[in-house]
Amino acid sequence: MAKVFVTREIPESGLKILKEQGYEVVVGPRELISREDLLKNVVGVDAILSVLTEKINKEVIDAAGANLKIIANFAMGYDNIDVKEAQSRNIYVTNTPGTLTETVAEHAMALILSLAHRIVEADQFTRDGKYKGWGPMLLLGEDLNNKTLGLIGFGAIGQRLAEMAIKGFNMKVIYYDVKPNPEFEKNIGGQFVSLEELLKNSDFVSLHVPLNPQTKHLIGIKELSLMKKTAYLINTARGPVIDENALLNALYTNDIAGAGLDVFEYEPAIVETRFDLREFLKLDNVVLTPHTASASIETRSKMSTMAANNIVATLKGETPLNLIKIN
Ligand code: GLV
Repeated sequence: MAKVFVTREIPESGLKILKEQGYEVVVGPRELISREDLLKNVVGVDAILSVLTEKINKEVIDAAGANLKIIANFAMGYDNIDVKEAQSRNIYVTNTPGTLTETVAEHAMALILSLAHRIVEADQFTRDGKYKGWGPMLLLGEDLNNKTLGLIGFGAIGQRLAEMAIKGFNMKVIYYDVKPNPEFEKNIGGQFVSLEELLKNSDFVSLHVPLNPQTKHLIGIKELSLMKKTAYLINTARGPVIDENALLNALYTNDIAGAGLDVFEYEPAIVETRFDLREFLKLDNVVLTPHTASASIETRSKMSTMAANNIVATLKGETPLNLIKIN
């Protein structure tokens, strides 16, 4: 009987698919799994269904041993997996593309709206009992209407957010990626620009690139200094795309207006970092969420199903639908 280790608790939809195949399915904890438990539980398995908090590297692949055929990541990103190492041993790596486009785009828009309308500050103000009556100058925010949204990375999520911004909020959209998308521009709108132009002209800059050596610290001191002092930076991609040290400095010195962050360079705040989430807590011009941009019931269930289907295909000897290949 094939053995599958699911590193953390995930929605039932995928587990059901795996169990129906008659596999022996062991599921890790709801909270973080220790490295020790991870290494112990992968021994002898045919498949690992991993989530992004586990670094699946040579050590884990070695611990699993010769039966391992697939690492099915429960995520769109796969920067937690050493794909090259897996590929060199003919172990498939898969992800869950398309499942979370809508949800992450909505979450990025929620962060944008929260910043523009000062929702979190206003909520805290009200809870603190400070609301003594309507005020013409109370907690003034700003409109999205006619503002410019700059999207760095124009894949599925960036495009969906662009569409929401254009159709729903009458925003102007500019975007930067490795190449322009004339079809999207023709059908929906938006304009391809250089990174520098984007940073200089956007009122909201939102990141939608994967994390890889080219995108690590894509946004640092220089890029932040190009942004308008009134602009906001939104990150629902991966923490290390921003040099967090540089961002904190820019926020402390009001070089930019604020930030909406779902991901952090050293998440979750861990001791080996110079900065941790507590630094952000001192600022009232940031809105923070704990890497929950894809956390809707619908999306997480779809991710669970897709990861499980990739395992089933592989263990049947087929090529899984969402195979990742790198050179
Ligand atoms: C979430 O961050 C993902 O990559 O799926």
